[in-house]
Amino acid sequence: MNKISEKIRYVGVSDYENFLFEGLWPVKYGVSYNSYLIIDEKIALIDTVEAGREDEFMANIREEIGTKAVDYLIVNHMEPDHSSLIKLITETYPGIRIVTTAKAVPMIKGYHGLSEDMIHVVKEGEKLSLGSSELTFYMAPMVHWPEVMVTWFEEEKTLFSADAFGTFGALRSELKDLETIEGTEESFFNEMTRYYANIVGKFGGPVQTALKKLSGLPIARICSTHGPVWESMIPQVVGLYDRLSRYEAEPGVCIVYGSMYGNTEKAALALADELGRLGVPAAVHNLNIENVSEALRDVFRYDTIAVGSPTYNGGIYPPIDSFMKAVSSRMVKNRRFFAFGSYTWAGASVRQLNELATAQGFELISEGNSFAQAYSPENCDMAAAAKLIKG
Ligand code: FEO
Repeated sequence: MNKISEKIRYVGVSDYENFLFEGLWPVKYGVSYNSYLIIDEKIALIDTVEAGREDEFMANIREEIGTKAVDYLIVNHMEPDHSSLIKLITETYPGIRIVTTAKAVPMIKGYHGLSEDMIHVVKEGEKLSLGSSELTFYMAPMVHWPEVMVTWFEEEKTLFSADAFGTFGALRSELKDLETIEGTEESFFNEMTRYYANIVGKFGGPVQTALKKLSGLPIARICSTHGPVWESMIPQVVGLYDRLSRYEAEPGVCIVYGSMYGNTEKAALALADELGRLGVPAAVHNLNIENVSEALRDVFRYDTIAVGSPTYNGGIYPPIDSFMKAVSSRMVKNRRFFAFGSYTWAGASVRQLNELATAQGFELISEGNSFAQAYSPENCDMAAAAKLIKG
């Protein structure tokens, strides 16, 4: 499974458990931490893996190069899911040179206590010879952190893209394209969208800058830090990242709600029913019981967001307040917005949701449905709301 080509070998690892990635995001199909060797007269290792997988990682490297030494460690990205084993690599291969960006240097010193003497800082377009082939480095700041660069291996038209074009999902028996995945193509791209929305979603502008910069390269293979090696599906994968980073959405409604005593929930389900009757695609997310990551995925997917919150302490119900902050921090653009929610003696949540949406530049579909006490079709007319949403 490790041979991508004669010169490129996969030495990464996969977590198969459903845990919280970054301590926040469930990964029901697991996740991979990809690391690659390029074997020429000199040997380069591209990124490392998450802590806790030391034995497997080192065994993977030894399986490919035996007792030979790694000459260069290319650090494309310093987030610890890829950089945790830098120190282990430098201890195992004492003559190694770390090749990275200027912004990564204080991170390497801070995380690993390593000296600058072993680091070779590269700039935009700089090349590194491995003997019969060479690597070229391109800066990709804020895709996902400021120190990020990507590495271009001209001889095989291969881009080592750091987090860009990554996805949740562990690699099982295969490495390339959709051979790797569990489930359908649709479920796979759901997970890729969820990865983008939650991990990279704030950085649409930098992703666009990187895409434009790299568009001149004749890319035949993408080796990301998470998920499959892309060969046959490059147009689909690059197209998805391009659309998501431009905040381009498809017609449909992401309904997100929280509810204390069931009235806002009844309104949310009534809206979903009415949209269904009109043939408008809708996804419903109850943030009382769901991790927010799937709701954020559908915020990136659909062009309309409908948010339900009861009035709580004169404001927005806490899980929905947190959701709105997550949408704001991702600088989501070009969405239509509809608010609804119940109150008992003084409604505030719908007004405040509308204020947040307006501040974000969303188009308000109406002033929203704020209703007193128990939900009923009479005091919260979701049939009318659904017609307005359909347009
Ligand atoms: Fe997979 Fe930003 O690290």
